[in-house]
Amino acid sequence: MKFDSLSPMPADPILGLMTQYRLDNHPHKIDLGVGVYKDEAGHTPILACVKAAEQHRIDTEETKVYIGPTGSADFNQLIAELAFSASHQVIEQNRVRTVSTPGGTGALRVAADFIKRVNPQAVIWVSDPTWANHTGLFEAAGITVKTYPYYDHDNKTLKFDEMLACLEQVSSDDVVLLHACCHNPSGMDLTNAQWDQIATLASDKSFTPLIDMAYQGFGDGVDEDAYGVRTVAAQVESMILCSSCSKNFGLYRERIGACSIIGKDSQAADIAFSVLLYVVRCIYSMPPAHGAAIVETILGSQELKQQWLDELAVMRNRINGNRAMLVDQLKALGVQRDFSFIASQKGMFSFLGINPQQVAEIQTKHSVYMVDSSRISIAGIGEANVDYLAKAIADVL
Ligand code: LMR
Repeated sequence: MKFDSLSPMPADPILGLMTQYRLDNHPHKIDLGVGVYKDEAGHTPILACVKAAEQHRIDTEETKVYIGPTGSADFNQLIAELAFSASHQVIEQNRVRTVSTPGGTGALRVAADFIKRVNPQAVIWVSDPTWANHTGLFEAAGITVKTYPYYDHDNKTLKFDEMLACLEQVSSDDVVLLHACCHNPSGMDLTNAQWDQIATLASDKSFTPLIDMAYQGFGDGVDEDAYGVRTVAAQVESMILCSSCSKNFGLYRERIGACSIIGKDSQAADIAFSVLLYVVRCIYSMPPAHGAAIVETILGSQELKQQWLDELAVMRNRINGNRAMLVDQLKALGVQRDFSFIASQKGMFSFLGINPQQVAEIQTKHSVYMVDSSRISIAGIGEANVDYLAKAIADVL
């Protein structure tokens, strides 16, 4: 084998931007690239509830011995209850099985290898557009990826009728990936009434929903953002949920997420779980424990959980405030184009709607960084830079 026959891979469209931004010395540079929460000072803080839980862990941890492929049982139960709610029928009927995973991406990769084992011919349907890493990740597991219509770039609306028409044709052997909330990259979420229709369709057509929930609590609230997950889970026989604690607990580098599968009954769930554990063993054997220990300490304590919900609300409100602030600032500058859609979209991202040349120009002329599609990470906006940003946008328009 000769490595010198390889051709170089291009930098990842999102992670490559992080490096470029760090190297830029412009005093007013703005990072609207990677989906990471930032405070007004442009800093990504460690939540106070996380600090407290880490201290508790330092004081009480007694061993570093292996836990096993499932990861912590307490974390798994608490994270499943956070997603589905403790009183949901799938929990009460003992149909959910969960493993802790290295981040939300780890959860997706476990899900992908699991799907490949269940049905080697499976096709996964993803929204057009979807998170840039979804396609590569599923293709790396040998799964064919196809798209269903989702976001209308011209009208800044959801192509819901086209999405439904496409999903009507999906085979019962296939998987449909849905974003639970805070759609990445568009910020355009399904309404509750639309989730009701998707749940009915999934049940009628018997395809398997795979719901990716990377931003629970960043849209409208922890329970509100789980409406789709809970509604679909109540209607289908089998389902997969991938969740992430990177954003809502601010645990990015600790790499903690979860993959939950729902079987049609407890016995089916047990069998599927044995396959899931085999898949985990073949990828990374066992998940890291630190992030899970933090999350289970927070969710297992009434006081820390309340503190977490309060800190999460601060992050959510700041992002929503940034949305409105950018729209107002553009209006105040007399920009003719209507950007009001940004204020009504949800979560960390929206498409600004400028073309790739304008994206390149705003980067080289003004040191404003965003991915080529013009997806902007709303958390990078603040009172201190919104005027500079709005002027830069106005300049390239
Ligand atoms: C993003 O979309 O920016 C985040 O999910 C971070 C990542 O890994 O891409």
